[in-house]
Amino acid sequence: MPLVPEHIKTLEPYKAGKSIEELKSELKLKRIVKLASNENPLGSSRSAVQSMIDSLQNIHRYPNPASYEMRKALADRFDVKVENVITGHGSEGIMSVIMRTFFLDDEEALTSEGTFIGFRVLAHSRGIRLRTVPLKDYKFDLNAIAEQITDKTKIIYLANPNNPTGTIFTVREFLEFIKKVPDHVLIILDEAYFEFAQHDPVYPDSMKYRLDNVITLRTFSKAYGLAGIRIGYGFAHDHLISNLMKVKLPFEPSVPAQAAGLAAMNDEEFLEKYLKLNYRGLQYFYHLFDRLGIRYIKSHANFVTIIMDSEDRVNKINEKLLHQGVIVRPLKAFGLPNCIRITTGLDDENEFFAKALERVL
Ligand SMILES: Cc1ncc(COP(=O)(O)O)c(C=O)c1O
Repeated sequence: MPLVPEHIKTLEPYKAGKSIEELKSELKLKRIVKLASNENPLGSSRSAVQSMIDSLQNIHRYPNPASYEMRKALADRFDVKVENVITGHGSEGIMSVIMRTFFLDDEEALTSEGTFIGFRVLAHSRGIRLRTVPLKDYKFDLNAIAEQITDKTKIIYLANPNNPTGTIFTVREFLEFIKKVPDHVLIILDEAYFEFAQHDPVYPDSMKYRLDNVITLRTFSKAYGLAGIRIGYGFAHDHLISNLMKVKLPFEPSVPAQAAGLAAMNDEEFLEKYLKLNYRGLQYFYHLFDRLGIRYIKSHANFVTIIMDSEDRVNKINEKLLHQGVIVRPLKAFGLPNCIRITTGLDDENEFFAKALERVL
């Protein structure tokens, strides 16, 4: 018997985008702007940071394993019971718990191509067969996914808005879809970018359609600017949550992570400021790409994906942008080799990117 199982030997791990430090040491540039990882360019809410600092007095103690205070706050905010809420080490941490909890060995996962890589890595690291259907016009094709459901399908992963396309499926599409999904199939509805899409009337806020086989995942990493502390949350039927709570690591999320999430949740001003900045950033990008004749996908998130003629062109543009001090995200690993994703930044970062892109082109 091999020490390392075959599915781990062949596992392609998640590769994050280039970091500012890496590029700095490689190219010795004066200014580097990172628009690659859908992070919040404003930083984090000040009250969240203060709350983390205050919480440091308690880090010699283990956190409450039930994360009671945080789950209660989320339950009150979203009008559900504490028993319907789970918190974790980022929303991806909760996804990992889901993958460890529900699968039997011969069961399969189903999703789209061109979506969040984290799900694929989790499925493969668990040795689970993952089946995918192509995107349709850069959107999740819910009809095609429904057609692929078999007796072996255990989990369907949907990201809405989707990363890296920024597209959404609508209320109508979602309601049609769930009619075709049998009760024994669990749907992970990943709403990491919910805050950016919530005001669109056709966006299906999954909290309005509570279904027994849907787990909603959300995060403080994006709109709330807390990617580095790792805090996410999820909602589902008590029966699902109680089983997830048995499998999750007892002491996640950490004491500072819970403190940060609790404070960030109440900092409406910070969130509003970022949503406005992001809206401005998206409009600025659209105008820029229109002016330069670059194809792009309209986004419901904090990034825009542009479409080039070829992978070769993507690589050339990416390389040249790096030399101008701009880090963006080529999307080969996401299955879109002719696309690049650009996260909105501060106004002057967007302008810096625009100038660099014009020079590069
Ligand atoms: C669609 C999607 N889901 C989940 C995550 C992971 O978020 P978290 O930081 O909460 O683990 C990301 C991060 O990029 C994402 O794009």
